[in-house]
Formats: sequence, C-alpha cells, structure tokens
Amino acid sequence: MRWLFFITFLMLFHSTMGSEDLIQLSCKKAAAGDPNLSFNFCVSSLEASPRSHGADLEQLVAITLNLTISNATSINSTISRLLVDKRFDKYAKECLQDCLELYSDSVPTLQEAIGAFQAKDYDKANIEVSSAMDASTTCEDGFKEKRGEVYPLKKENHNFCQLNAISLAFINTLSGT
Ligand SMILES: *[C@@H]1O[C@H](CO)[C@@H](O)[C@H](O)[C@H]1NC(C)=O
Ligand SMILES: *[C@@H]1O[C@H](CO)[C@@H](O)[C@H](O)[C@H]1NC(C)=O
Ligand SMILES: *[C@@H]1O[C@H](CO)[C@@H](O)[C@H](O)[C@H]1NC(C)=O
Ligand SMILES: *[C@@H]1O[C@H](CO)[C@@H](O)[C@H](O)[C@H]1NC(C)=O
Repeated sequence: MRWLFFITFLMLFHSTMGSEDLIQLSCKKAAAGDPNLSFNFCVSSLEASPRSHGADLEQLVAITLNLTISNATSINSTISRLLVDKRFDKYAKECLQDCLELYSDSVPTLQEAIGAFQAKDYDKANIEVSSAMDASTTCEDGFKEKRGEVYPLKKENHNFCQLNAISLAFINTLSGT
C-alpha cells in the first residue's frame, strides 16, 4: 500500500509543478516583453485562480480575460461610488462620467475578445483586448488635461492595464507572433 501513496504523491506533485512552471515561464516571457507588466503581478493574479492549476496556456488566457472582466465590473462600481462623492469638483465628475462609460464598454469588448479567442481568431482577440486596454489610458487622459486634478483611479487602472497586457502577451505567444 505504501508505494501507492508514494506514487499518488509523486503524481500530484508533478501535475502541480507542471502548471506552476507554465505560469512562471509565461509570465517571465510576458514581463520581459513589456516594461509595464510586473512578473509578480502576473504570477500572483493567475495563481489566485483555482482554475489555473493544471491549466494550459489557452486556459490561462481564458482565465485572464475572465479576471479582466471582473476587474472592469468592479472598477465600474468604484467609479459609480466616486460620482456621488463630494470630494470631486464638476470637472472631475465629468471625467469620471467618461471613465464610467469607458469601463462599462470594455466589458462587452472583452466578451467579444473571449468569443474571438475561442474561435482561434487571435488577430481579432488581440484587437479587442487592445481596445479594452485603451479605456484606462483614455480615462486617465481626461484628468491630465486639467492641471491640479487628482486622478483617483491610478491603482485600479494600472491593474486593469496589466491584466490586458498579460492576455495580449499570452495570445501573441499562442499565435506565434
Ligand atoms: C508603458 O506605460 C506608459 C505609460 O502608461 C506608456 O506610455 C507606454 O507606451 C507603455 N509601454 C508599453 C510597452 O506598453
Ligand atoms: C469564464 O467565465 C465564464 C462565465 O462566467 C465561465 O463560464 C467560464 O467557465 C470561465 N472560464 C474560465 C477559464 O475561467
Ligand atoms: C483587479 O485584479 C487584480 C489582479 O487580479 C487585483 O489585485 C485587484 O484587486 C483587482 N481590482 C479590482 C478593483 O477588482
Ligand atoms: C457600470 O455602472 C453603471 C452605473 O452604475 C451601470 O449603468 C452599468 O450597467 C455598469 N456597467 C457594467 C458593465 O457593469
């Protein structure tokens, strides 16, 4: 009986190692190709998902896209709360209103990216993810146009950007570009 436990242990150990290696390797490659993407952010975001254990690269892309959609949805709710916050002046509220629309629109865009990805249309998936990623830049630009405006979504934007950068890097690896 003892050898059976031992073999089971070895197999479990081996399969866990396999997917963690893939996450580490893919994140290393992605971070090396993009100075804005942190290796640690990439690994910890993926490892936080129970589905990533034993996942192949295609599944990791689907997981990342799902994570990005939850992120956009939760940033959207954060913005809704900021819109009724007295801290912000009229100009900032207008910017926040634009940001709300941008993040809200990024959800169906990312859903289209998932559809394209599942159909193995990597070019289309790439375009959709890039366009979702632009939401964060466009949102921030509004605040930058007026001196002295504090940009309240810095951390959220940065996370959202990095999640999209992970999807792009992994999709490009799969499409061999
Ligand atoms: C990194 O982020 C900066 C500032 O947001 C941006 O100007 C630059 O294009 C980004 N670089 C890449 C490779 O995405
Ligand atoms: C992504 O989310 C959808 C809808 O919530 C779910 O059906 C699907 O299984 C998820 N995929 C992965 C890889 O997590
Ligand atoms: C967005 O995702 C990142 C990585 O999974 C997470 O650390 C962060 O808390 C999320 N932010 C929001 C607002 O959901
Ligand atoms: C974003 O928030 C607005 C206002 O609360 C809401 O109308 C919209 O449906 C939300 N969008 C998403 C994708 O959750």
